[in-house]
Amino acid sequence: LSLYLLLSLPPESGVLRVPTRYILPPSQRPMLGSSSGTDTITLPVIDLSLLHDPLLRPCVIHEIEMACKGFGFFQIINHGISSSVVKDALDAATRFFDLPVDEKILLGSDNVHTPVRYGTSFNHSKDKVHYWRDFIKHYSHPLAKWIDLWPSNPPCYKEKVGKYAEATHLLHKQLIEAISESLGLERKYLEEEIEEGSQVMAVNCYPACPEPDIALGMPPHSDFGSLTILLQSSKGLQIMDCNNNWVSVPYIEGALIVQLGDQVEVMSNGIYKSVVHRVTVNKDFKRLSFASLHSLPLHKKISPAPQLVNEKKSAAYGEFSFNDFLEYISSNDITQQRFIDTLR
Ligand code: SIN
Ligand code: FE2
Repeated sequence: LSLYLLLSLPPESGVLRVPTRYILPPSQRPMLGSSSGTDTITLPVIDLSLLHDPLLRPCVIHEIEMACKGFGFFQIINHGISSSVVKDALDAATRFFDLPVDEKILLGSDNVHTPVRYGTSFNHSKDKVHYWRDFIKHYSHPLAKWIDLWPSNPPCYKEKVGKYAEATHLLHKQLIEAISESLGLERKYLEEEIEEGSQVMAVNCYPACPEPDIALGMPPHSDFGSLTILLQSSKGLQIMDCNNNWVSVPYIEGALIVQLGDQVEVMSNGIYKSVVHRVTVNKDFKRLSFASLHSLPLHKKISPAPQLVNEKKSAAYGEFSFNDFLEYISSNDITQQRFIDTLR
């Protein structure tokens, strides 16, 4: 069975075993059945609407600071993106992944610089093990520049996913402002960079998997950008806590997930850490997610904010840009590695 054919087969089609190339070495398997006790950790959930109340804003900023220091991760509720915009985007994505493989594969590419590409793994030609994932990634900001290149089937895709992408871009600005503030920087510290920066929407589909204990939807990694805003249709995401234990992220209806990326770790001079995460799969149903990956401009070199560098804490990172990252992943197997570790 070809990879593409396999991913398009429903579970009842008789695929009872995971093909060899998806089987992880024992040390990297998710061990879903075993209880490490860490799933009892409560992960932060923040009511974002309170940011607009001048009296409550300082409390919310403090909650954000604690979440960024403790996890590099939080969920947000009352974030202002309507449930119909979210539902329409998920419906359009479901219809896209339901298309025949022959049609989707027309958008296939292994070149990470391609603005719209369909694929099945981080780096299809170089990954040693394959991941149980089907995805379409497209540049999304500024929307008018890219939207014509997006999938034209289903016909509603551009409109519905476009609405979600624009709403996410606005939300990301508010979040970056709050995060800058929580570091004691000006609210507008990154304003220009954000306007010129990029947004890549990674739309993922993880089909039901016959042997979820020995495969993963995505390997452990941190996101290289500034922030990722993640929408999930059901649970599956796990994050690594400060003791290097995997913690399952609960599914909260209507919530979105915020993950700090490497650029915020560098900008904060290491006060905040990007969150290492992975995706588990399950036997019973497919899971969809939208990862909106926000990043500073392609060639902009990121370095720690001068206000956060002092005698006690010297600059902890070398400079890097989004472009450096793309070059790096084109020539390396990034599985199991944080890009940022190469900058120290
Ligand atoms: C990720 O983008 O790394 C995670 C996506 C997901 O939870 O499906
Ligand atoms: Fe990620």
